Amino acid sequence: MECVAAGLLLAGAVTEPTATAAKKKNKGTVKKEAFGKTTDGKAVEAYTLVNKNGLKARIITYGAMLTEMHVPDKNGKFGDIVLGHDKLEDYLDGHSYFGVTTGRVANRIAGGKFTLDGSEYTLATNNDPNHLHGGTEGIDKKVWSARVSRSKAGPAVAFSYTSPNGEEGYPGNLKMKVTYTLTNNDELRIDYVATTDKATPVNLTNHAYWNLAGKGTILDHILQINADHYTPVDATGIPTGEILKVDDVMSFIKPTAIGVRIDKLAGEPGGYDHNYCLNKKEFGSLGLAARVEESTSGRVLEIFTTEPGIQFYTGNFLDGTEVGKGGWKYEFRNALCLETQHFPDSINHPQFPNTVLRPKQKYTQTTIHKFITK
Ligand code: BGC
Repeated sequence: MECVAAGLLLAGAVTEPTATAAKKKNKGTVKKEAFGKTTDGKAVEAYTLVNKNGLKARIITYGAMLTEMHVPDKNGKFGDIVLGHDKLEDYLDGHSYFGVTTGRVANRIAGGKFTLDGSEYTLATNNDPNHLHGGTEGIDKKVWSARVSRSKAGPAVAFSYTSPNGEEGYPGNLKMKVTYTLTNNDELRIDYVATTDKATPVNLTNHAYWNLAGKGTILDHILQINADHYTPVDATGIPTGEILKVDDVMSFIKPTAIGVRIDKLAGEPGGYDHNYCLNKKEFGSLGLAARVEESTSGRVLEIFTTEPGIQFYTGNFLDGTEVGKGGWKYEFRNALCLETQHFPDSINHPQFPNTVLRPKQKYTQTTIHKFITK
């Protein structure tokens, strides 16, 4: 089933006075389509947002996941710059968190354990010995409900999911809403809101894998990260608790090609997989976190966020076995992730910015991905 028209479109809603339609057309469109069914028969839908300049983002209700992001290159030619799959079955079979909304708590929690208000909680451990990205069946594997949302900024869709008390071991019924807006200023803006009925840790992010050339290696992408410090980790990826100054290998304060020093990072398979502590005057304020540039396409991605940290991950586990959209075999160093977040395992490190959400409080996070060409 497919339904297209000017302005905000829902299945069946196609008649609009011409003048209004034309006015709305200038603001972009939203198209809703069926995208298959989960193994337990739940219908999954895809929402395609197109802004007034023709940029296109596609998000599916399974995992509130960004599956496509089409932006122009320096010659005006559009290309899809995120990794993903063509069919729902390929996501259901298991994948590398391509474009998903990650949580309830993104990244790792040590040993899947934490104590909050005197109670000890045990979470699902899916990344031996730790809890990763919300557990065995995190919010990236749930079917969210979707609603086209009216925004002056551009076409938008809001995705909602309530994670019940005890899901993956977390306390509290956690109500989440994630709104994707493709603004007419060529930004993909993601706004997250959550509330709970019992104190619980929350750390939501998006796990898009970017390749600004739309193919090949990311080692020649030029990266800048606005961070003087990072949180070093142990052999299982858990922060040691220290906040260290970036050294020569870790620093992206000056724009630097990703491949220049990557081989100096020890580990198997090696590469960047680190949380950077963003330089910020004030927590919660929207500031530039990172900038990525790719010279052959002329594409530039700037990321702004309200979050205190960003996980820079060079897709270290891509090894050519996962075949994605259009038959592209995702090889080592074919993509990078820049996940805006609170620091990993914050619940076990009181010195890190707080991730505990309490009843009557509202969790919010905003991240803006701005697309430019040069
Ligand atoms: C983590 C990696 C993990 C990857 C899974 C990243 O956010 O930092 O350690 O392997 O997600 O896709």
